[in-house]
Amino acid sequence: MEDVRAHITTYGCQMNRLDAELLAHALRREGARVVADPNDANVLLFLTCSVRAHAEERLFSNVGALKARKRREPDLLVGILGCTAQQYGDRLGERAPLADLACAPGRLAEVPDLIRKARRGRPADALDPTRTDGTREAFVAPDARLDDLELARPLGGPSPRHACVTVVRGCDNFCAYCVVPHVRGPERSRPPSAVLDEVRRFAGEGARQVTFLGQAVNKYQAREAGRPWDLADLLAEAADTRGLARLHFITNHPAAMTERLADAFARVPAVCPYLHMPAQAGSDAVLRRMNRGYTAAEYEERVARVRRARPDVAVASDFIVGFPGETEADFEATCDLVRRTRFAGGFVFKYSPRPGTAAERYTDDVPDAEKRRRHQVLLDLIQDIAGEESRALVGRTVPVFVEGPSPNPHLDAAAGGGQAESLAGGVQLRGRTPGGRIVVFDGPTDLAGEIVDVRLTRAAGVTLFGERAS
Ligand code: 5AD
Ligand code: SF4
Repeated sequence: MEDVRAHITTYGCQMNRLDAELLAHALRREGARVVADPNDANVLLFLTCSVRAHAEERLFSNVGALKARKRREPDLLVGILGCTAQQYGDRLGERAPLADLACAPGRLAEVPDLIRKARRGRPADALDPTRTDGTREAFVAPDARLDDLELARPLGGPSPRHACVTVVRGCDNFCAYCVVPHVRGPERSRPPSAVLDEVRRFAGEGARQVTFLGQAVNKYQAREAGRPWDLADLLAEAADTRGLARLHFITNHPAAMTERLADAFARVPAVCPYLHMPAQAGSDAVLRRMNRGYTAAEYEERVARVRRARPDVAVASDFIVGFPGETEADFEATCDLVRRTRFAGGFVFKYSPRPGTAAERYTDDVPDAEKRRRHQVLLDLIQDIAGEESRALVGRTVPVFVEGPSPNPHLDAAAGGGQAESLAGGVQLRGRTPGGRIVVFDGPTDLAGEIVDVRLTRAAGVTLFGERAS
């Protein structure tokens, strides 16, 4: 496929960013080039997200805008891959008549074959059955090719020396609002040996941090070498890898936060004090309608479990505002949960009704203006508290994993109160504390990928500023 010049546009979550790495590797190993500029490409691939309507609308408008180019360049191929392709299935052609190929998120290894078929003018779809039609085996079978891609791909994750590794695919939680279990299939835990091989390979190539990924990563469950494995076992084993300093795992489901896993925060030194565990709401009535499987008090108890093991853990959450039937009192209960839990950060989303999900049977009855108001109020509250939590760290010296030059040094400097940072020691670098907070400090660019001690001197919002302590 020497004459293939592919461009990949990625929407959505961390999982999709890893999928983009796998896809790039699948293409390159068959001789295709992956180009940075879509204008240089003869194959345009869109790795899509269908969690909220907004990402989907952007996708279809971006694809629609290619009409003129398609007319000028009849050989140009357009592929819609990932969650939206699976979500639309046979109806994709109606929404995106320009698309030449479509592929489910679990079948990205097949994209090179799909490109060949599309070039011959043949139908080029690799979609999964629906969850009611398909057997478990139908979802499990294509995983072997993905595993193979994961293991073979070059290290090139979110930042130099940081690799993401899939641990659990799919989701069985069926939260009422969520499309993920419908498009990413049933929950499948990868064999411990596959995960550990990957961790060892990347650590051997210089990775200092590994992030385990799964929609509900803490539901990890496997049997190998004659014994059961949960996430705590997997973390303990991975932590023994030479050269590996930091382990993160996202995203955690509160109902599956066991004492054993909470203990791993205390027992396994490489496990970072960072816990991304979405609460989604603080009202029990809303949580019940969301089918989340816990009450606000149970959520808080799960956080307390982890804090008993690791008092300095930075807890982050996702929230949905404006879920059907959410009253002002329900929303206040969410704000109260935030005040009590004191999150280190959080994402807030306006409820977006998704076709095929259980919440579709409820009326989307919170007006958009009210959703927007709640979104802003909650975001401000989370940011204020997270800022206070960041300020409380000022004066400490912490190990910072350096990601590289600060992507927006002027903004970072302005956030610090307007004065420009002294650049005498090199450039302004950006890194992360063990709890994932951003730290900006001056230093030579060759520190990228290293872990260095930084004394925190001030905070601006949630961002910390400091000086190298050597
Ligand atoms: N509307 C709004 N937000 C949603 N999320 C998932 N589905 C929806 C939806 N239909 C949010 C949840 C989840 C995050 C990835 O996206 O908060 O944790
Ligand atoms: Fe969606 Fe719930 Fe699964 Fe998360 S746990 S992917 S919100 S169904």
